[in-house]
Amino acid sequence: MVRIKALILSGGKGTRLRPITFTSAKQLVPVANKPILFYGIEAIRDAGITEVGIVVGDTADEVKKAVGTGEQFGVNVEYIHQEAPLGLAHAVKVSRDYIGDDSFVMYLGDNLLKNGVKSIVSEFSAGSHDAQILLARVPNPSEFGVAEIKEGRVVALEEKPKKPKSDYALVGVYMFTSSIFEAVEHIKPSWRNELEITDAIQYLIDKGFVVNSHIVDGWWKDTGKLTDILDANQMILAELRPDLKSEPKKGSEIHGSVRTGKMVRIEGSVLRGPCVIGDGAVIIDSYIGPFTSIGPNTRVKGSEIENSIVLEDCTIEDIGSRIGNSLIGRNVTVTKNDKPPRSYEFMVGDNSNIIIF
Ligand code: TTP
Repeated sequence: MVRIKALILSGGKGTRLRPITFTSAKQLVPVANKPILFYGIEAIRDAGITEVGIVVGDTADEVKKAVGTGEQFGVNVEYIHQEAPLGLAHAVKVSRDYIGDDSFVMYLGDNLLKNGVKSIVSEFSAGSHDAQILLARVPNPSEFGVAEIKEGRVVALEEKPKKPKSDYALVGVYMFTSSIFEAVEHIKPSWRNELEITDAIQYLIDKGFVVNSHIVDGWWKDTGKLTDILDANQMILAELRPDLKSEPKKGSEIHGSVRTGKMVRIEGSVLRGPCVIGDGAVIIDSYIGPFTSIGPNTRVKGSEIENSIVLEDCTIEDIGSRIGNSLIGRNVTVTKNDKPPRSYEFMVGDNSNIIIF
């Protein structure tokens, strides 16, 4: 039986998620209070793969601290340093020693697939293709790598094309044999100075290697942007099983699927699921609406929040109107001041985005 390893890409720049990514790896942004990257590692483990290489860049220390040896997931993790985010095919190039002659699944660490990768990995192991790509129809193909398909076969690939030849986007999961190393050695950097994986796969097609494609079933999300992270949060929470580790105090109401962690204090509040409340959080005189994830040790008082992700150690107090569609980073304070002068007061980082109603 062929041995299959996994390569998870967890470097990159994360420019589209600034300011969150100024201080933190985008793959560690939690969705339903669990880092996005962990869903990927679990999907790989569930496909029966135990050897996992994680490509890391500037945020290496943080990723290593969160994932460790992989023991918590039941896999062996090794870290591969990429000196700069020079493209997905560059990440493959620097992983050559780790992969050796094995085949591998390459998984972009900011992607989420509802149905995991088990069936994709077994289909590839059973076949004799040189590479396999996953495709999904999207309304905005020019934001993705796009595949041109003729008679069921992939004939061409293009990265973020201005005039897409189809609406089939490349999903962030690929299967390769070691033939991909020949491809990544031969391609040249693109206009954005990256070694593009689409060019490497195009090289395989042009040289007569067999590239199979597979349409993804179930939802898939590339969580590179705020709206995608909120969508992913919705998708994961939609399947939430209720679990109250801390009972709400009298005067509170719980509706729908709600999960609360340990040592959570809920008083005089309405929680309408699906939503998750992290360990040690405090919710007083507040409304937590559907599709909301409240991080550990965050305090919400006299406020209303829905369809949002609030990370750990935040304080949200006495906000007069409802907070929605928001991603609030760690240790953020949002409060209301009733004393004059009546002005909005901000201390926000570069690239922040504030919408006032
Ligand atoms: P992208 O989202 O394509 O790139 P990025 O992380 O640089 O983000 P942005 O476009 O917002 O600046 O990357 C997909 C995944 O691959 C993501 O998990 C980061 C990772 N990656 C690497 O590990 N090395 C790289 O050289 C690149 C480009 C991405």
